[in-house]
Amino acid sequence: MISRACGDSNKHNRCGKGPIFAQIRQAIPLAKSLLFCPDMCYLIIVSRPKGQDSISATKNHLEPIPLGACLDGKYHVQSLLGRGSMGLVYLATDASLQREVAIKVLLPRYAADERVAKRFRLEAVSMAAVRAENVVQIFAFGDYEGHPYFVMEYVPGYTVGNLIENANNHGEQLYLDVVIGILKQVCRGLEAVHARGIVHRDIKPANMLIGPRFRVAITDFGLVETIRSSAERDLAGTPLYLAPEIIRRQEISAELRFSSDIYALGISSYEMLTGQVPFDGESIKEILRRHLKEDPKPLSDFRSDLPPGVQDVVLHALSKEPGDRPRLGMDFIDALVAARDAASGAPYQRLGGPRVLIVDDDPETRTIFRTAIKVGFPDTSVVEATDGVQGLDLAKTTKPDLMFVDLNMPGMNGLELVASLRADESTHEMELVVVSSNLDTEACRLLGSLGVTTFLAKPVELSQLVDVVRSALKRR
Ligand SMILES: Nc1ncnc2c1ncn2[C@@H]1O[C@H](COP(=O)(O)OP(=O)(O)O)[C@@H](O)[C@H]1O
Ligand SMILES: [Mg+2]
Repeated sequence: MISRACGDSNKHNRCGKGPIFAQIRQAIPLAKSLLFCPDMCYLIIVSRPKGQDSISATKNHLEPIPLGACLDGKYHVQSLLGRGSMGLVYLATDASLQREVAIKVLLPRYAADERVAKRFRLEAVSMAAVRAENVVQIFAFGDYEGHPYFVMEYVPGYTVGNLIENANNHGEQLYLDVVIGILKQVCRGLEAVHARGIVHRDIKPANMLIGPRFRVAITDFGLVETIRSSAERDLAGTPLYLAPEIIRRQEISAELRFSSDIYALGISSYEMLTGQVPFDGESIKEILRRHLKEDPKPLSDFRSDLPPGVQDVVLHALSKEPGDRPRLGMDFIDALVAARDAASGAPYQRLGGPRVLIVDDDPETRTIFRTAIKVGFPDTSVVEATDGVQGLDLAKTTKPDLMFVDLNMPGMNGLELVASLRADESTHEMELVVVSSNLDTEACRLLGSLGVTTFLAKPVELSQLVDVVRSALKRR
């Protein structure tokens, strides 16, 4: 899967962020993490023994902080998470609070450049100004042997960029509901950023992190423009996502300052839905020219299942004139959701075959179920959740045709999950099978009152499992 996901990615080289291989490598060391596959149809559990890094642990003189170093007497650097054009991001352990953190440090070649160092501090200060669930939180700023660094919360997972790339490599597209689920959170984060008078200036899928329970958080404030910094505005940014007014270095009125982020949000949405950015090219000059002069191809050229209103909302955000775009991120997402909902009276065309969701905290059970289902019903997509809360989220976003629920899970258990599913209008009719190693009559009675009629006892008989799936999918 990894080799398939690591195909050629010149596009990413052109946007200055290195090939997808580097991004996948970042995702892999994130032990314990779930790597969502392309269309969110299934999850792959990526795990590695603790203390072993897939990225070389040898000291590299180009890297400002050696692995194993201790910063400020408490941050123990463990591995490299990401490498950008300006800096490096490490995974570290904060010994004082006993938690993992991410540490970003400037590349050594910039440490002596006062302008870059000033911008790095601005990045940290801007992050600190925003407190929101959908924005990565910063904890501290420091200096390690002349290398400035800042400490932030560690979001174990992968980026929306990884998600798109995976989908492309499998010839698949992200479900509209999944894209909306991501964008809702990005827009909430962006709202908090804009509320502090900050223009992010580098909104793109690679800067949207997806963590546990499908939490999306905006990161990378490296190019922010604050009210005070706007005088030194330049052509910084990732060419594929740059708004025309930035390319033209046009003077913008105060109320339209945030429009370039809306444009970048539009490009990101276009990319999530179609698998490609609207304006690509062989050179940066060519890309910038297309932003200025060309109309994006309709999204319907790439997929036919999108309600027309959805396409209109995305194209609206890509208006060449800042004043013609939705004013705020929330306006954009509200319009997108309204367009989706307006069309949902008509049957929403789902892609692919049937979907099965497995909610179980035991990785072995999930593997057995997934393998048996994939073998017995090859066109079926299998989605996995490791706990009840995630199961509830995935049930709402992926709308499976059949869901297996483990009864005994820490946190939200199976009974609570079933009750929550029945209480929600979008999931109350879901086809459920409860799985447990200790099904007593009381639990069966309670579950029966919640409309659960099929139970599987662990260890599960494979033939029984296949029968259950077959008859559930027949009813579909
Ligand atoms: N807080 C974090 N938790 C986990 N991974 C992170 C975090 N911050 C950054 N990363 C990883 O490091 C990469 C580079 O970080 P970023 O801040 O975007 O740097 P750059 O400015 O060089 O693009 C990200 O794409 C992401 O994969
Ligand atoms: Mg980045």
